[in-house]
Amino acid sequence: MAEEKDVVKTAAKPTIITVFNQKGGVGKTTTSVNLAVCLAALGKRTVLVDLDSQSNATTNVGVMPPISTGAYQLVTGKVPFEDCLKKTSYENLRLVGGSDELAWADIELALQPECQAVLGKALETVPDNVDVVVIDCPPAPGIVSVNALVAADMVVMPVMPSPHALDGLHKAWWNVNRVRSSYNHDLHSIYILLTMTEDSELTNKLSEDIIAEFGHRVMPVLVPRDNVVIEAAARDLPVASMAPQSAPARAYLRLAELLMNRASHMGGEATGINREQGAETLAVWAVGNEGRRSNLAIPEPGDMPDPGWTEAPELAQPVAGGNLGWKIGAGIGLILLGAVLGFAAASAWFAFPPG
Ligand SMILES: Nc1ncnc2c1ncn2[C@@H]1O[C@H](COP(=O)(O)OP(=O)(O)OP(=O)(O)O)[C@@H](O)[C@H]1O
Ligand SMILES: [Mg+2]
Repeated sequence: MAEEKDVVKTAAKPTIITVFNQKGGVGKTTTSVNLAVCLAALGKRTVLVDLDSQSNATTNVGVMPPISTGAYQLVTGKVPFEDCLKKTSYENLRLVGGSDELAWADIELALQPECQAVLGKALETVPDNVDVVVIDCPPAPGIVSVNALVAADMVVMPVMPSPHALDGLHKAWWNVNRVRSSYNHDLHSIYILLTMTEDSELTNKLSEDIIAEFGHRVMPVLVPRDNVVIEAAARDLPVASMAPQSAPARAYLRLAELLMNRASHMGGEATGINREQGAETLAVWAVGNEGRRSNLAIPEPGDMPDPGWTEAPELAQPVAGGNLGWKIGAGIGLILLGAVLGFAAASAWFAFPPG
């Protein structure tokens, strides 16, 4: 793999980080949300853009649907960036929220000229008070994802070490590089993030294979598999702001710090990226999030919504043997009819013998 320099932007424009992998369930949303929250905790004025119609990134930062003006309107060029922004409860973090309509954005974009560049154009109008934009992509290499890659200064590709991971990574890598060579020649900062790692012989071997092939492209931070991530998601919370001391939370804070250092136009450590301060801010947010109920909590019988079953019209109950009477009647009728027809045929035969 050819060595390439990391991006160094000169203008005071925001850094756009696209989190992409066409493979589903590899940790894109978890990475986007936690990266965005950690960047905000590090003092970066951050906007999280949820391009997935599943809208998990949106609910994960505590914003509930419906989103009437958000990522769908942004990516299809209907509404300017500033009008799509929503506040979150986290200082420095705003959201461009996802909605069901995003499922149709690919088709609508296909009808537009330069359909691959609509989001990039919209992001050119990002105001000065935004330092970083983090984009969560849907699990497909469609036109929406291509827009996110065309707009990107950096791409983070979460990869879960699993038996088909390397194959999936090759495909995703090929797609990113195709976008880069066709539409985004300045895209050099493409990184792989190993997620949901486990300390087993198989996953260690898979991780080693990925590192051997992609070298410095693999971020020097692992996000371990830990149920605390699922518990956080069930509370519509990023793990970084629910359990900042957990290993995945610490990994995401480190990732945010590393990416900011690599995007050196933003100053990195030189302009005061301070991990301890970021960790303290996350700890304060975690206290504020204490007691937030899990949306997976098993409801008490009294909390259960009435399914309305008692109002459904009752079906007529079949009576045991209820249909037997007419069946017997019909059977006797058929036997009698057969006997009459047989008698008539025999009489006719005797009356008019053949020949
Ligand atoms: N480090 C982790 N430890 C344990 N579970 C995790 C971890 N990271 C993510 N998960 C869980 O794995 C599942 C998939 O993660 P996530 O939704 O982030 O993936 P995705 O790539 O965005 O999926 P999709 O392709 O459907 O958008 C989720 O249930 C999430 O809570
Ligand atoms: Mg997702």
